[in-house]
Amino acid sequence: MGKHYEHVKGTVDFYPPQSSLFQNIVKEARNLFILYGYEEIILPILETEAVFAKGVGSTSDIVEKQIFRIQDKDIVLRPEGTAQVVRSYIENSCSKQSDVHKFFYIGPMFRGERPQKGRLRQFHHIGAEVFGVENPALDGEVIALAYMVLQKSGIKNITLKLNTLGCAQDKEKFSARLQKDLQAHHAKLCELCQKRVSVNPLRVLDCKDPSCKKIVASLSLGKGHLCDECQDHFHKVTETLKALSVPFEYDPFLVRGLDYYTNTVFEFISSALGAQDACGAGGRYNNLVKNLGGPDVPAIGFALGVERMLLLREDFKSPPVVNVFVAYTGETLASEARTLVYELRRQGVSADMSYKPKSLKSQLRVAQRLGAVCTVIFGEEERKEGCLTLRNMRESTQQKIAVEDIIPALKNKI
Ligand code: HAM
Repeated sequence: MGKHYEHVKGTVDFYPPQSSLFQNIVKEARNLFILYGYEEIILPILETEAVFAKGVGSTSDIVEKQIFRIQDKDIVLRPEGTAQVVRSYIENSCSKQSDVHKFFYIGPMFRGERPQKGRLRQFHHIGAEVFGVENPALDGEVIALAYMVLQKSGIKNITLKLNTLGCAQDKEKFSARLQKDLQAHHAKLCELCQKRVSVNPLRVLDCKDPSCKKIVASLSLGKGHLCDECQDHFHKVTETLKALSVPFEYDPFLVRGLDYYTNTVFEFISSALGAQDACGAGGRYNNLVKNLGGPDVPAIGFALGVERMLLLREDFKSPPVVNVFVAYTGETLASEARTLVYELRRQGVSADMSYKPKSLKSQLRVAQRLGAVCTVIFGEEERKEGCLTLRNMRESTQQKIAVEDIIPALKNKI
């Protein structure tokens, strides 16, 4: 036997029923995006590293630790969609065509992390990014849309955490205050956070180190750093969420590990996911378009992690692979069976049959495995009588039906 190969650690092969659930989630998301007036964009997996270094932040985990670099090039496998969508939005001069753009995207992202449950090196995002709207009603709507996608995918027990970082000036004020507060505990912070305090103190709030967590928990954070305008914006976001019946928890410790956020930030958390407990997240990034060399256009978006959504749907039962299985006895009846299979498919009824003669018993077993609702049996007895047997697989009942009535009878049953 030759050598066999294994999948790359941190990647997943999707098999049924997981693959079917994956597509189901994508289908529901796509339908909702269309309902909310979003247009799909399909962007490359390869992107220049600078887009993320400048966009997400050179001291973010994504850029500092998780980038998949193509050797000797400044090209990377995209770790997230937002900075990339912004790059594309600017490059394609979208702002000149219309003042508002609502995009969605579905595709793989890559982060070179040490894999663990829920933390992969290749995973998929269902994401949305909206450009050109300042109105806080949109923040509420975007969050509600993400919430709806999760609900429609059958994910129920999730908590929506919500916070606001304020505008760039507020964020700076917050950061400076945090820096001062954290400096008092400098010696007790982990080595990395000791550096973070001076470079990017907000990142300390995300640290998983127990000692850092304890210090962070003792801090009193609130909305003190917010200017009147940002206070009002956040208030209106919460009002919209209430009006849309989206439950949320205000969490002043939620800052997110990506530098581009301003004002609203949010995360969907489930305790069933373990340490990697976020199945989706997002927020406003009003300065990113400008920072990446584009016009001064406000924006907001979110991304849901499909693999983590799948983990929350482990109870999923896959739909039938085909609705009708056509069984036959002996090679002579194979071509008649095949004609029926082709006709059913032509009329939009999913159908299949065995490619080689097998006993009726084993064909029924295959029909069962495929989840077929009905099996049609072509046997010698049926041939003599000029009819077919229609077996209802769920009820284990069967009846004889005239050949010409079989398709309407099947359509009636499925
Ligand atoms: P993010 O929080 O880095 O945000 O990723 C969003 C979601 O992707 C996470 O909540 C998680 O479900 C999933 N995810 C992230 N990393 C992994 C991983 N290594 N393995 C499996 N799943 C993962 C963003 O990427 C932002 N672009 C979201 C956004 C869009 N903000 C504004 N617009």
